[in-house]
Amino acid sequence: MKNIAIFASGSGTNAENIIRYFTHSETIRVVVVLSNNQKAGVHERVNKLDVPSFVFSRDEFAEASRILDKLAEYKVEFIVLAGFMNKISGSLLQAFPNKIINIHPALLPKYGGKGMYGMHVHEAVVVAGEKESGITIHYINEYYDEGEIIFQAVCPLLATDTPEEVAIKIHTLEHRYYPRVIEEVLSSPELT
Ligand code: GAR
Repeated sequence: MKNIAIFASGSGTNAENIIRYFTHSETIRVVVVLSNNQKAGVHERVNKLDVPSFVFSRDEFAEASRILDKLAEYKVEFIVLAGFMNKISGSLLQAFPNKIINIHPALLPKYGGKGMYGMHVHEAVVVAGEKESGITIHYINEYYDEGEIIFQAVCPLLATDTPEEVAIKIHTLEHRYYPRVIEEVLSSPELT
C-alpha cells in the first residue's frame, strides 16, 4: 500500500475527489491532508471522509522539519498538491525527489509563475481572449510551475465564457484526470 499526503489551501474539491477515488484501492490511499489555511474548506470535506488534516504556518512549510515529522508519522511516500498556495521548500523537495506533483489550472508554460493561481489564472485567460484552456499535471521543482510535465488536457472556451465559467470547465477536467494520473505515476516501476 502506498500512502499519499495531499497539500491543499482552499475549498478542497480535488482533495475530496482524490480521496473518494482511492477509497477502495488496494494499492493507494490518502492518509493525511496538510494545509496552510485553518479556514480552508478542505478540512471539513476530508475529515468527513475520515482523513485527518493539519495546519502549518508558512514558516513551518519553509523550514519543513515539523512537516517532515508529520509525513514520517503517517508513512507518506508521495505528495500531491491540490490547490496548495505555498512554495515547497528545498528540504521537502530533497526528502521527496520526483515524488511531489502539482496540478495547475492552465496549459503551462502559459499562465504559470508567481501570482498565477486559482481565479487569477482564469481571469488572465479570459482577458487574453484564449480559445482554449486546460490543466497541467507536473512534477515540482524549485521553480514555480516549471517541473517536468506529466499530463495535459484541453477544453474549448467560448468568447462569452466568464472566469467563473472557465473555472467550472477546468475543475471538471481536474476531477476527471487527476486521480487517474496519480494512479499511473504511482504504478511506474521507479516508485515500486
Ligand atoms: C484548482 O483549480 C487547482 O488547479 C488550483 O487551485 C484550484 C483548487 O481547487 N491550483 C493552483 O492554482 C496552483 N497554482 P480545489 O480547492 O477545489 O481543489
